[in-house]
Amino acid sequence: MTDSRSDALVFFGATGDLAYKKIFPALQGMAKRGHLNMPIIGVAYSKWDLDQFKARAKDSLEKHGGLDPEVWPQLCNQLNYIDGDYADPSTFAKLHDVLGGAQRPLYYLAIPPSLFGTVAESLARSGCTRQARVVVEKPFGRDLASAKKLNNILHEFFPEESIFRIDHYLGKEPVQNLIYFRFANPFIEGGWSNQYLDSVQITMAESFGVLGRGKLYEELGAIRDVVQNHMLHVIACLAMEWPTGATSECLRQSRGNLLKSVRTLDPSQIVRGQFRGYRHEPGVAADSQVETFAAMQFHIDNERWSGVPFCVRVGKCLPCTTTEIMVRVKPSHHPMLEESAPTLSNYYRFRLSPDVTLAMGTRIKKPGERMAGERVEMVAHHLPPGEMDAYERLLGDAANGDAALFARQDSVEESWRIVDPVLDNATPLVEYEPNTWGPPELSTAFVPKGGWHNPACTET
Ligand code: BG6
Repeated sequence: MTDSRSDALVFFGATGDLAYKKIFPALQGMAKRGHLNMPIIGVAYSKWDLDQFKARAKDSLEKHGGLDPEVWPQLCNQLNYIDGDYADPSTFAKLHDVLGGAQRPLYYLAIPPSLFGTVAESLARSGCTRQARVVVEKPFGRDLASAKKLNNILHEFFPEESIFRIDHYLGKEPVQNLIYFRFANPFIEGGWSNQYLDSVQITMAESFGVLGRGKLYEELGAIRDVVQNHMLHVIACLAMEWPTGATSECLRQSRGNLLKSVRTLDPSQIVRGQFRGYRHEPGVAADSQVETFAAMQFHIDNERWSGVPFCVRVGKCLPCTTTEIMVRVKPSHHPMLEESAPTLSNYYRFRLSPDVTLAMGTRIKKPGERMAGERVEMVAHHLPPGEMDAYERLLGDAANGDAALFARQDSVEESWRIVDPVLDNATPLVEYEPNTWGPPELSTAFVPKGGWHNPACTET
């Protein structure tokens, strides 16, 4: 890692969906905090001019979080745009000119992975890679073999310390809080093991379908889209050991070590579902076998977690949009407690979105002569509006050369190793009705002790 800040930000795929939904709002956030003192250059092949590009940026901000009239004029002035084919050297010659004297540009590749090699090579040939950094979107590769190949391609042009593999879940404030909450509270960390915990479950539910991204989604499916990356990183943050020090590398090492202990999935440990109607989406094959839902059980083979299942459920067209973690604590039994074992009373509940909640389920004695109680949830709720968005945080970190919240190649490869056997129709697909919690098969397949916890739907 180096402490010199990037002095230009170039994003490829500038007219695409990711830029529209996430990158422009992140840039506005950075500008607002005074963190965007560099030129911003969008690159795409859409036959647009700078005015169209600026209009797109304005529209993006209006639709995603709101345009800040005080920040917009400055941001708009910083925007530049290059329209050109990524296979044409003149696109990169133009970029070289526009970059002018920039010494350490940051390139964000918001483009399909199949183009990474072409773009990286052209950047190198045009003399644009010296001291540069590159941010690449997830999923990094399609499986273990292609992730290794992609890595080799990038390494031809960028050293490892200049490659930032983004997974925006790692940049989310409540995901970082999973780590902080555990380690900053010794009474939690002391009980954070198979001695006290029964099961961990994570639900990532989305009430919408593929939102016109059918063609792209056909290449992915739920496992590649969010399990291999977001879910496994959340598990790593929840279950990792103490980092051996305070540096970014120590944190990455600790997450990576945890992933090394996660058992490779077996096709018998997964349910794959597809919502009824998916095959009628534009860009989707009429006989598509791509899953829009997946549920599975991970096992961590180390001393701390042996015997504690980590159950994960992700899906599109579920009853609401939320990501929630339920960590169930083993119940206490004693003849003095005049009640049958209250299995589901003790837990930790982490709601990561849309609102952020950190809650603990406890039992409190009911007034009266009996030693019997009731369940009380203690809630510590936090996330004031205006908190830094994950993309804003991560773009800023990459510009500063801080890789703590980015995936290292060994972690990416471990994640692919874990899911590789269940990719590509390894198990039959079952249909589910939109607006349900997934295929009916899930009510009998590896249900965590006490059943699946369906998060509350708070959307209006
Ligand atoms: C993206 C996936 O990485 O994460 C999308 O490609 C998904 O399919 C999105 O909708 C969810 O992110 P968030 O931050 O809204 O939970």
